[in-house]
Amino acid sequence: MPETPVPQSSGQLSVSLWRGGSEGRYESYSVPRRESQTVLDVVTYVQRHIDPTLSYRFACRVGMCGSCAMTVNGRPRWTCRTHVAKVADGGRLEIGPLENLPVIKDLATDMQPFFEKWQQAKGVFAPSQTRADPMARIKPDSRPRIAADAAIECINCGVCYAACDTVRWNADYLGPAALNRAWTLVNDERDAGNPARLQAIAASGGCHSCHTHQSCQEHCPLSLNPTASIAGLKRRTTAAYLKGELKA
Ligand code: SF4
Ligand code: SF4
Ligand code: FES
Repeated sequence: MPETPVPQSSGQLSVSLWRGGSEGRYESYSVPRRESQTVLDVVTYVQRHIDPTLSYRFACRVGMCGSCAMTVNGRPRWTCRTHVAKVADGGRLEIGPLENLPVIKDLATDMQPFFEKWQQAKGVFAPSQTRADPMARIKPDSRPRIAADAAIECINCGVCYAACDTVRWNADYLGPAALNRAWTLVNDERDAGNPARLQAIAASGGCHSCHTHQSCQEHCPLSLNPTASIAGLKRRTTAAYLKGELKA
């Protein structure tokens, strides 16, 4: 593969990158500064010009796929949408894997626990009709559609999960993204899975474990508010208890 040309730089960045598995360590690299450079550009430079064994994950480079999230100077971020100029503290960058997930190697985390919690939260659409039925019509201004409107924009990047202290302390906690997904389905008039879904999210490690400190909302690159979705789930599960629809 031909080398990517490196334009003239205006100085060097001092970059620490996590290398190895969970028992790894930070290693230092010097990377040329460029105009409009993103953190993902920096990681890519190291992989292409210094050490081709560096492992990391990305796909779209435009904030759509959610695969490039890493810890940048202590904060979880999409690296493709984070400009170095905004975060490089005195020309220094420390880039590590996302927190609260196992490290596969270097900057690549194992997302399996994240998606397993989606399944535990019954974050999968349960159709109430067959493909032979006419297409469902959902009014855009209906109350459930409006309640789910923002939450359906989630792209499963894991940033909120990495930022959540409750996930860190409680391995059973389903976390902001899975619960946010459950909230979209709880409000989906086409879905028939709510009895099992509400039971799952009311259980230990479900929505009532959230401490409402809004770190998820503060860090979400899309400015979504999983805390609000979880508050909705708390109201819905409490109402279901009072109506006798949930087993204690
Ligand atoms: S508000 Fe809840 S889900 Fe969000 S970061 Fe805090 S504990 Fe986690
Ligand atoms: S809620 Fe935001 S931070 Fe969390 S997974 Fe979805 S897009 Fe990422
Ligand atoms: S590479 Fe797709 S969101 Fe960053």
